[in-house]
Amino acid sequence: MQLNKIELHGYRNFSELSLATAAGVNIIIGPNAQGKTNLLEAIHVLALTKSHRTSKDRELIGWNETSARIEAEIERKLGKITLELQLSAQGKKAKINGLEQRKLSAFVGTVNVVLFAPEDLDIVKGAPGIRRRFMDMEIGQVHPAYLYDSLQYQRILQQRNNYLKSTDAARASAEMLEVWNEQLAASGVKMMQRRQNFIYKLQGWADKIHAGITGGKESLTVVYKPSLSAEEGTSSQEQSSLLQQFMLKLSQGKEQEFRRGTTLIGPHRDDLAFAINGRDVQTYGSQGQQRTAALSLKLAELELMREEIGEYPLLLLDDVLSELDQERQTQLIETFQNRVQTFITTTGLESVNMGRLKDAAIYHVRGGTVLP
Ligand SMILES: Nc1ncnc2c1ncn2[C@@H]1O[C@H](COP(=O)(O)OP(=O)(O)O)[C@@H](O)[C@H]1O
Ligand SMILES: [Mg+2]
Repeated sequence: MQLNKIELHGYRNFSELSLATAAGVNIIIGPNAQGKTNLLEAIHVLALTKSHRTSKDRELIGWNETSARIEAEIERKLGKITLELQLSAQGKKAKINGLEQRKLSAFVGTVNVVLFAPEDLDIVKGAPGIRRRFMDMEIGQVHPAYLYDSLQYQRILQQRNNYLKSTDAARASAEMLEVWNEQLAASGVKMMQRRQNFIYKLQGWADKIHAGITGGKESLTVVYKPSLSAEEGTSSQEQSSLLQQFMLKLSQGKEQEFRRGTTLIGPHRDDLAFAINGRDVQTYGSQGQQRTAALSLKLAELELMREEIGEYPLLLLDDVLSELDQERQTQLIETFQNRVQTFITTTGLESVNMGRLKDAAIYHVRGGTVLP
């Protein structure tokens, strides 16, 4: 798929922007704090209705504005689509081809993106939250029901945590807790099964790509580590046993949860584990190996998305090219060139292997304006 055109009105430091984008590689150049990431973020928000940098939509609206609007023309295999997303204190309004969508989940997935930012290079070594965000970003775009389940889960989790903080185990109402446990487990189990399935499929691609980058010397394994050990399989019988297991663990952990004032198991505590040639990368991997693993994962995401939706998503590379050595840069460029519409931000072209990038369109960003 392809983004033909994007317009921003009152979005962050772009008060008005209308930009026609090229089919292949688009390079966005500018000094720091000019709006490069803001522009990529706007494309990401259009795809997921959420920023990758903040959960507060207010921050996306220009300081002197009361609302922000993102409009775009997308070209997919089936034809052209216009998208419009408006953000204001009243919430979000989304339109596809001028038609307002009653649910945001009907809008998500109309355009798909894979974003690679410097913090993703820490996907292996960094905090577990980075790995959970990685799973959520992809699964949410491909399976709208997952978004619904994770929103439900977050809402119940919050209420349950407030309750755990507000009283102690002795005084707690068993009935109330039981209701929350049931609801938490119901949406939690659905999330866990999606994640399990996603990582299982991603792993195949990631291993293949990682082997390619390392000339066949290294094999990469990615394993889903739910905070609550899940049995594999998705049959309804197993689903109900996982549900029971979830609820059993919740009630067993009751005393501790009240003492700590927070929910100690569930998808919000999930993690991933990586191994290269059978050895744990978090513990034994060199920085180079960790970065290669991160790169392999992101490229695997591109392939998996193509497999699931039938065309490549847009690739957004925020400041990462210069963070990679020449060899990994080349590897990355080879995978997207001529296949995937790509948006690259950078402060300068010195660190970018331009010799490899053919026919890239170049834009200069200064203080919320884009100059060709
Ligand atoms: N809501 C907002 N309204 C106006 N300007 C904003 C808003 N949020 C961030 N900015 C400005 O955007 C700039 C940061 O843009 P960013 O895209 O992150 O920079 P970079 O080009 O380094 O990627 C900062 O100068 C910041 O002051
Ligand atoms: Mg930036």
